Amino acid sequence: MKKEMTISELVVKMIEASGGNLHDIRHFMKVYAFAKTIAECEGVSPNEQRTIEAAAVLHDIACPLCREKYGSTNGKYQELEGTGLTEAFLEGSGLPEEMISRIIWLVGHHHTIAPVEGIDHQILLEADYLVNADESGYSAENILNTEKKLFRTRTGTALLKSMYESKEK
Ligand SMILES: [Fe+2]
Repeated sequence: MKKEMTISELVVKMIEASGGNLHDIRHFMKVYAFAKTIAECEGVSPNEQRTIEAAAVLHDIACPLCREKYGSTNGKYQELEGTGLTEAFLEGSGLPEEMISRIIWLVGHHHTIAPVEGIDHQILLEADYLVNADESGYSAENILNTEKKLFRTRTGTALLKSMYESKEK
């Protein structure tokens, strides 16, 4: 049987594919770290854990293409272009077909917050928001609203509070 790529091997391949764009690399490494942390603390299954981690590493795979093609990394463009790029990226990875399909679906829905379909989707959205709130300097109001509207896991909510509560005062 063909050896399955590990998450770390996916990380190395994704960094290689990022063409030295340190902003992109920093972003997905942070989202990966938060997604891994939330998933482990929430006690998801080993398969879900791997799916979530892989999706976090790959979630913004379409950003370079979208900047070039549309002059924008708007979420809808990313979801549209991300699925094909993810499929190509994971070809030959040896990961189970079902897992690959789910990772592709997650990349294609990482800007869709309604409906949230599954714990893997929930965790990816929370992890991406935790990083974006910092990188984009979201307001206290945006953070409070998103806490109510989006955050569902105990760990993600605790992280959001630890990181941004001081902003709310
Ligand atoms: Fe992101």
